[in-house]
Amino acid sequence: MSTLAVNVRKLARRVLEPLAYRVDGSFVTPSNISLSLTNRCNLKCPTCNYWQTPASAKDSELSLDEMVRLLTQLREWLGPYQIGLTGGEPFLRPEIFDLMRHAARLGVRLGTVNNGSLLPPRRIEELREVVDRPDNPLDVISFSLNHLDPAKHDKTRGVTGSADKVFKAIDALNYPGRPFRLTISTIVMGYNLDSLPDLVRWAREKGLDGVTFQIYYFQSGNDEYVPGWFRNDPFWDDDREKIDRGIDELIALRRQGAPITNLAQHLEMMRGYLKDPEARIDIPCRVGIANFDVEPNGDVRLCDVMKTVGNIRETHPREIWAGVLAAERRREIHGCEAVCRIKTCNFRKPLTAIALEQLGVR
Ligand SMILES: C[S@@+](CC[C@H](N)C(=O)[O-])C[C@H]1O[C@@H](n2cnc3c(N)ncnc32)[C@H](O)[C@@H]1O
Ligand code: SF4
Ligand code: SF4
Repeated sequence: MSTLAVNVRKLARRVLEPLAYRVDGSFVTPSNISLSLTNRCNLKCPTCNYWQTPASAKDSELSLDEMVRLLTQLREWLGPYQIGLTGGEPFLRPEIFDLMRHAARLGVRLGTVNNGSLLPPRRIEELREVVDRPDNPLDVISFSLNHLDPAKHDKTRGVTGSADKVFKAIDALNYPGRPFRLTISTIVMGYNLDSLPDLVRWAREKGLDGVTFQIYYFQSGNDEYVPGWFRNDPFWDDDREKIDRGIDELIALRRQGAPITNLAQHLEMMRGYLKDPEARIDIPCRVGIANFDVEPNGDVRLCDVMKTVGNIRETHPREIWAGVLAAERRREIHGCEAVCRIKTCNFRKPLTAIALEQLGVR
């Protein structure tokens, strides 16, 4: 199934979203589906606590068969769809390559984000065996990169040598005519804001397909929000001039056609967030009618900090989506005032912006 078919379907469903948000919402199907292969990780990013997941968590992770069953059930329910493979570090699971082969067979499109440290040449070769076939399932692979300066990137990853590995993996996959998009995922922090325009220029010069910015949010992987967490955070800096300069430059680069995947409107929201990360944000959070996040043990969440709505080991994904617990969460989401609605994984592009983008207006 082509990416075009998935996109057309996404757009059609997107038209119904505002209505679905007002009612229960289960009549639209999820559009932002992810499968976390593991919460374990080989790096030690100070911004994230997945790496503290004990090795024993492996025992409860979905097996390859269970993951393939999930992809199959979703295919029967949704028709063509795309799913994001994430983690923890998804490439810690060697089964990921077999999972990709099954996705190819099922016509399921894949995206994945990874830290770039587990793709040495022999695994790049294995990946190329999957993606260079006519039924390539991979739509996008994104590498997390927070700074072009290796020492500064390594500081955000907690392990020396991480930058060297991610640069090598990017180069190895940046070959002419590659049949997937190769992008960068970058956290926007006071720590790296001044350097981000250069990172975008670097990506453009390399011919990469995009840089996706993510707000620096309270510890990725931690459930309990701590108010004021940013005040003593070493990566946070609320220097307003620096924030304005950085965001202005990114928006200008985007207008000139630089490959920034976030909308200018989203970058503007990030500006406000960086200046005041606890200020109310006046857009609805639509994760309840869009997100379907499957955790390594099969638990499903619509919002990643609210209670689970079922487990795919016991219940078909369609029933979870239409279930009582999902309806309860949707009501809870309606009353939520948290700002993580502008995290890139939660932010919904307005329809008008999508239409303008299709017309080439940036
Ligand atoms: C949790 S990681 C999982 C995938 C993989 N391990 C990686 O790092 O790319 C997904 C994304 O979250 C980002 N991230 C980590 N800590 C974050 C934080 N506190 N706020 C926002 N994004 C964060 C990472 O840089 C990465 O791009
Ligand atoms: S951000 Fe990614 S690489 Fe870093 S600790 Fe979290 S899961 Fe691991
Ligand atoms: S804004 Fe609220 S409902 Fe939306 S993702 Fe954040 S915590 Fe969940």
